[in-house]
Amino acid sequence: MVEKNDVTPIESGLMEKLVSLAKRRGFFYPGSEIYGGLANTYDYGPVGTELLRNIKNLWWNYFVQQRSDMVGLDAGIISHHKIWEASGHVAGFADAMIDCKNCKARMRADHLLENYIETLDEHTRADVMKTHAEDKDIVKALESGHVEGFSIDALEKVLKVFSTLPRHGLKCPNCGKSDWTAIRKFNQLFPVQLGIVQGEGGMAYLRGETAQGIFVNFRNVVDSNRVRLPFGIAQIGKGFRNEITPGNSIFRTIEFEMGEIEYFFDPEVTNWETVFEQWKSTMWEFVTKQLGVLETNLRWREHTDEERSFYSTRTEDLDYKFPFGFKELWGLAYRTNYDLTKHSEASKKDLVIVDPQTGTKIVPHVIEPAVGLTRLLLMVLVDAYTEEGTSAGSGEGKRTVLKLHPKIAPYKVAIFPLLANKETLVGKAQDIYNELKKHFMVTFDARGNIGKRYMAQDEIGTPWCVTVDFDSLDDDGVTIRDRDTTNQERVKIKELVDYFQKKLR
Ligand code: GAP
Repeated sequence: MVEKNDVTPIESGLMEKLVSLAKRRGFFYPGSEIYGGLANTYDYGPVGTELLRNIKNLWWNYFVQQRSDMVGLDAGIISHHKIWEASGHVAGFADAMIDCKNCKARMRADHLLENYIETLDEHTRADVMKTHAEDKDIVKALESGHVEGFSIDALEKVLKVFSTLPRHGLKCPNCGKSDWTAIRKFNQLFPVQLGIVQGEGGMAYLRGETAQGIFVNFRNVVDSNRVRLPFGIAQIGKGFRNEITPGNSIFRTIEFEMGEIEYFFDPEVTNWETVFEQWKSTMWEFVTKQLGVLETNLRWREHTDEERSFYSTRTEDLDYKFPFGFKELWGLAYRTNYDLTKHSEASKKDLVIVDPQTGTKIVPHVIEPAVGLTRLLLMVLVDAYTEEGTSAGSGEGKRTVLKLHPKIAPYKVAIFPLLANKETLVGKAQDIYNELKKHFMVTFDARGNIGKRYMAQDEIGTPWCVTVDFDSLDDDGVTIRDRDTTNQERVKIKELVDYFQKKLR
């Protein structure tokens, strides 16, 4: 459940430019900003809302609508404390936290150590390795660059070794001192107190993942739908985690949109490795073909034994190359029948499906693809961000373009009258806007000059701009300008709907 870290930007310039564009053009804004902001929260602006909605719709279409072996679910966000006790989250959904005594900065100890390991040069690495050759935790941390799954004692030991290195010792990234509190566990679940009942009776949690809503409704879905193994239940919805590490913009937030699937099967009948491999190719295809992301920016990474949850037989992450390094985008885990068994034991309800042929009761196993949809949004922005020209982004011939896949672009078409003060042009452009908006998400712009309008649409990834000019009044044609090539072509107004429908197919 805990994932890899993200604090040190490798190409920090790109992230800064993206965050600035996101604010300037309305993708997302820091949460509660007028009151000074609330750490690790973001609000989505008009174009960000469209982009997120398009990603969600595409996900739902691809994983539910287009498949006969999938059904959907929309479980509640506030859920019974017993769900999270049975699932193991109350006891185990915790990060190791540490504070700097000098500046009071609070951070995840694993992130602190992993970021530090990344900065070590070969010489220092070899030195530490030699001195601590007998210590398997130090060796493992240095070799893998990861400390996930390490016990608190092991983390303390690694921290001590790194903090006391004579040169390049580990320091607080905030103030540069090396004066730490003890490392302690910090549970990520958000408790909520319901009504006026104090104590356990009124105690609930904001869900830390949508997956548990699927497990606790398994019986309901089976009883109310004609499903047969193997089949999956999919859900889109918010997850909440009390994250303490600064999250690289929307990469890691305390409230985020998830898209989770629990794919149930009988391991006696269906080979789990085959299902696992099928899901790997489906996820890959979604990211590359549906979202249009470059294959070279993706990789699979298998979890080490320490990292993997004890009930999982195999977990692999699909990682994306963010400007701050390769990081987890989408997790794929074979969770066996752990969750259904745990909920069955705790609730004393039979969470089974009956084999129609033999009448045998089966507690199915699951393979779980789980993704952060807001993380997908950050990925598509990073992947689409392009600067063209010598000192791109400003001045003539230089531009910043979001080369988003047209299917997910916030607006498909922008419609302009060539001049804002010519009523005939504005009227005709408005007619086109009114017609196209019945079919696509479109926008209208009559401000500034045409160059500025193109620039604004390029920055939000609008694939096509339609301009109504003086010739349009005679020939009933318009100029369509392509975002990526900037090529222009003349098309009749009555053919526009067909033209864009073909392009978007
Ligand atoms: N049910 C399995 C599960 O929740 P996870 O790896 O903890 O697995 C799934 O989370 C996905 O959710 C991750 O791969 C990541 O894309 C996203 N995610 C996790 N924590 C996040 C956070 N704090 N902010 C944004 N996205 C997050």
